[in-house]
Amino acid sequence: MQRKEKGIKDFVLLDKIDENSFVANLKTRFEDNAIYTYVGEVVVSVNPYKKLPIYGPEEIARYRGKYVFEPNINPHVYALTDTAYTAMKFKGIDQCIIISGESGAGKTEASKVIMQYIAAVENTNHNTEVDRVKEQLLRTNPVLEAFGNAKTNRNDNSSRFGKYMDIQFNFSGEPVGGHVTTYLLEKSRVNHQEKGERNFHIFYQLLAGGPTGDLQLQKDATKYPYLNKGGTVKVGSVDDAADFKEMKGGMDFIGFTADQQNNIFKVLGAILHLGLVEFAADEKDGSKVSTKPVLETIAKILGTTPAAIETGLSHKTIISGGNVISSPLTPDKAVYSRDALARQMYQRLFSWMIDRINEKVHTPHGEIKNVIGVLDIYGFEIFESNSFEQFCINYCNEKLQQLFIELTLKTEQEEYMKEGIQWTPIEFFNNRIICDLIEKKPGGIISLLDEDCMRPGDKSDKAWLEKLQSGIGAHAHFVTKKGHGDKTFPDNSFKLVHYAGDVFYNVNGFIDKNVDAFFKDLAQVMFESKNPLLREMFPDGDKATWKNAGKMPPTAGTAFKTSMNEMIATLNTKAPSYIRCIKPNDRKSAGVFDEDRVRHQVRYLGLLENVRVRRAGFCFRAESSAPATYPHWRGDARSGVKAILDHLKLDAKEYQMGKTKLFVKNPKTVFTFEEERENIIPKYVTKIQSWWRVIRVRRRIREYFEKLQQTFANIKKDPNFGKGTRWPAIPHPVLKNAESTLKSVHANWRAKRMVLSLSPERQDLLRKKCLGSTFFTSKRPWNLQRDWTGNYIPALGLAARSSAIFRGHGDKEVVFADEVLKYSRGARPDRRMLIVGDANIYKLDPAFKVTPKRVMSIKQIKAISVSPNKASVAVIHSTQPGFDTILDLGVSGQDRLSEFVVLTYLAARKAGHKFAVNVVDTIQYNNAENPQKPTQTVVFQASPRALKPGQPSTLKKGSTNTLFYAP
Ligand SMILES: Nc1ncnc2c1ncn2[C@@H]1O[C@H](COP(=O)(O)OP(=O)(O)O)[C@@H](O)[C@H]1O
Ligand SMILES: [Mg+2]
Repeated sequence: MQRKEKGIKDFVLLDKIDENSFVANLKTRFEDNAIYTYVGEVVVSVNPYKKLPIYGPEEIARYRGKYVFEPNINPHVYALTDTAYTAMKFKGIDQCIIISGESGAGKTEASKVIMQYIAAVENTNHNTEVDRVKEQLLRTNPVLEAFGNAKTNRNDNSSRFGKYMDIQFNFSGEPVGGHVTTYLLEKSRVNHQEKGERNFHIFYQLLAGGPTGDLQLQKDATKYPYLNKGGTVKVGSVDDAADFKEMKGGMDFIGFTADQQNNIFKVLGAILHLGLVEFAADEKDGSKVSTKPVLETIAKILGTTPAAIETGLSHKTIISGGNVISSPLTPDKAVYSRDALARQMYQRLFSWMIDRINEKVHTPHGEIKNVIGVLDIYGFEIFESNSFEQFCINYCNEKLQQLFIELTLKTEQEEYMKEGIQWTPIEFFNNRIICDLIEKKPGGIISLLDEDCMRPGDKSDKAWLEKLQSGIGAHAHFVTKKGHGDKTFPDNSFKLVHYAGDVFYNVNGFIDKNVDAFFKDLAQVMFESKNPLLREMFPDGDKATWKNAGKMPPTAGTAFKTSMNEMIATLNTKAPSYIRCIKPNDRKSAGVFDEDRVRHQVRYLGLLENVRVRRAGFCFRAESSAPATYPHWRGDARSGVKAILDHLKLDAKEYQMGKTKLFVKNPKTVFTFEEERENIIPKYVTKIQSWWRVIRVRRRIREYFEKLQQTFANIKKDPNFGKGTRWPAIPHPVLKNAESTLKSVHANWRAKRMVLSLSPERQDLLRKKCLGSTFFTSKRPWNLQRDWTGNYIPALGLAARSSAIFRGHGDKEVVFADEVLKYSRGARPDRRMLIVGDANIYKLDPAFKVTPKRVMSIKQIKAISVSPNKASVAVIHSTQPGFDTILDLGVSGQDRLSEFVVLTYLAARKAGHKFAVNVVDTIQYNNAENPQKPTQTVVFQASPRALKPGQPSTLKKGSTNTLFYAP
């Protein structure tokens, strides 16, 4: 989880849309180190001027594949980059990220953050080329910054050029190359710096860490006029020597050869020496170099002659109608020419390097499928005094605003039309009119400037201003002092009413800067030098080309206009994302939020308009998707979306259905959707997890049963029928019941098998014992081990006599016969022979008188009661009152009680009679043979001493009789 940031993370959610609440929210967030805030899909970034722990691989991972709107994710450039990358990869749409903001607002840092994110793109195919390109892309930075950045009063590492970089991706979405385009390098810095500023970093780096000896340079930067104009040659925190090393490492990695690097350093060195060249008037109207040794050094470094350079610097050569016309220059003009050479050398070196970088940072393998372009370009500039550079920069911003209108406002409204959405068109200021004012040909400001520059004869900025006044003075966005009639209006100036505010431009220097005069003879000197780099840099110095060159090279203004239109054309083919950078204070300090400064930027960046447009329109559209129709929707997408909306009970005013998209009015609604989604996802995750678990358990259950089958595959052949077989462990507690059922199924089956494997006699015995178990098991001790033979008096020839005994009673076989004790009513123990036939029970005296003492029909047995202890006594309850019998079946020393009960019970059942078998502590009986006599009660007590010798039990008479038995 990310920490929860303060404030509102998307300005479209602000309750009140005005500058105050906008700035207040920015401030709240800035003070909470929450430097990124959205305006819809635009990221507003406030420079924290300190390192924040919101970058790096872990943070990158957080944003990978995440949706920008996800409520638990803080706004970030990573999120914006991921969205662009994802759209590029999965929809195949080229993307561009446009970073704007004033100098020092954090544009270049933001572009590095983007690069970081892209360099972290997974190299799924482990393509070494991809790794090389990623590293190259990152390592071009120190090189570009060394040559293109400088310390200014606004930014210690200010980019002095506009940069557009295409990162090229292959079909797998991996970066395979890059291409840099630069705009309007601020080359005047080569000659001159404002107080407190420096020349481009590379010069100081070269002196601090470069081959100064070879270049005959001194380490001390203050010695060089081109470096010391700002009065600062050192930037507090910057280590120029270390930076040189890093820059050189970058050059090495990108692939600049040692020769190329040496030549680059030579050009730089020559520029520094050139700054030391001074002129004196010669005998005629011309000039000569007064610092000859410097001239010699330069000639040596550049591989040319001092004379060639001197002539070049002190003359101007132009081509007119195919003729080469050369005329001498005064010392003043020669200085101008010297500076122009230095600027040309630097600018051409810079361009040459960019070309080489583009050549090298591109893999020959890997096809380019899509690109993400990153535009890090100067934001609107309004200084005390604004010149040609500010004019170009602000024109650039007008163009970008046009693009913004084209790509967002207009496209947005056109999309509503296309989708058939009802919509009241909103008014927005279309700055087309300002772009036209500047660039229209003929009649635009640049065109009028060019006309003046190309006009033969003396030119003056003032005259040009007059021209502007008469040509376009009536334009609503153009104002001059004359037209305005206001005394406070600055002299020599015109005012442009830009979309972002009014700017006064001082016309001084416009013509010179636009012409950017560079005389052919100098180009020729460079071209003819022995240094191959210079030859490449100055192809226009080749005399062979002069004859045909009738046309003048384009002016700076026109060249810039052309490059801007190319840039816009490039961006126009891509889906844009915006990062708007804001500078919190002018002191480059952390923690300082200058509300006025911020308010000013919010205004001219048009951020409030951004919010308003977003809110006026439908803030969100998405290809229809379907959570309520989850997990399957079988209808068409449109009605699926409708189903979801109905389910969400969304107010019909809140949205409109387009043909392929859903348009939602209020951003809050979208956030609610998102929150809903956030909330619901864990539920689905749980569901999916539990499904998965079920699937896993099911699989394990299947495996369990397979194992079970294997285990018991040969069970039938096992003599023990699987007794003692180790059962496989159950994979899940849900199988506990199943397992115990299975085990009892197995036990039953096994018992049956065991029984079936026995002889018929044994089977019979087993059945009887099973019945016994239902009577006695866990109720009283009984002996299972013993065989039940039934007749324990065979020696006495009972069988022989039985027919005589049975005669007249109808029994056919002896079921049970044994010697027993019968207790009389007076508790006297009498020895008897007990015979259970299939119809009657006989009690005979021990002498086996054939006539039984008592015969009782089996059907007369009401119940048999036994005690729960070891006593072998049974009471046979008769249906005939007074005829109960109390018998001890333990005379033999064996417990035959159970056998007697079971066999008698079976005999009765066979005869169609059923009686109860009770196991009770206290038995009531009546054996008085007289129903009038009271019923007796017997309780049982274990006591060996109470027994008479040879007797299994003793009955002691009392109000309650006690039967003592051997424990
Ligand atoms: N996200 C950031 N985190 C920390 N410091 C930053 C950040 N953005 C900018 N800075 C600081 O501000 C300085 C100026 O930023 P930079 O990107 O060069 O501005 P710009 O390109 O807009 O002129 C940087 O050198 C750095 O010190
Ligand atoms: Mg920058």
